[in-house]
Amino acid sequence: MRNKIIAGNWKMNKDLNESVELINGLKAKLATLPKGVQAIICPPYISLAQAKDLLKGSPIELGAQNMYHEDEGAFTGEISPKMLKSAGCKYVILGHSERRQYFGDTDASINTKVKKALTSGLIPIICVGETLQEREKNITNQVITTQVKGCLKDISAADIEKSIIAYEPVWAIGTGKVATPQQAQDVHKLIRGLLTQLYGSATAEKVVTQYGGSVKPDNAKELLHQPDIDGALVGGACLKADSFAAIVQAAE
Ligand code: 13P
Repeated sequence: MRNKIIAGNWKMNKDLNESVELINGLKAKLATLPKGVQAIICPPYISLAQAKDLLKGSPIELGAQNMYHEDEGAFTGEISPKMLKSAGCKYVILGHSERRQYFGDTDASINTKVKKALTSGLIPIICVGETLQEREKNITNQVITTQVKGCLKDISAADIEKSIIAYEPVWAIGTGKVATPQQAQDVHKLIRGLLTQLYGSATAEKVVTQYGGSVKPDNAKELLHQPDIDGALVGGACLKADSFAAIVQAAE
């Protein structure tokens, strides 16, 4: 039985003071988590160390939104996995569609980061998803297949078992246009099938897959109870303690 994992991707929101406020709100609402449910927050880099301190004693775990694939060196503006670990991160989101769209992430560069995250002891949340144009052209399955295979190239079965795959249709991100539970389940099933092809079914059955794209308290339950959907990667709704907590509760 896979755990349900709900992660909040804060994106570029909340300064230090606002982060304290949100984390304190979340700690109050999520002092204990439903059985078999995990909750992760991924604040901006500058809030991570503070979040680590604030989350002491809380079941809420910490992740980052990106990283570079080296431990240190002359890479101005970048953050390494080693730094993320020292700031209390257990997870890192890699290959978010906004990184692909605005910052040049590709399946190949994401694959490099996934490998580095895993050897550094971070759990990658690997993002895939088709654009509206691709869905309308009926090439969703091809796009997802290429992304999954590209991002997971040369990743071992032992490593993929620890990893999380997030399906985030680009057309559903920040648009309020959520995929129907059936549309989401269909792609999650495709992903599970690809994992079965690559690693066999025993391994594929262990991998947690999240859905992301306009997840809200009122649509979370149905999405989270699809057979192949094991969690959510939440954007807008994770910026308020009430709504993120409600989504976590909906995973029970
Ligand atoms: P929204 O929940 O705001 O649509 O964002 C989803 C997302 O991109 C999470 O990574």
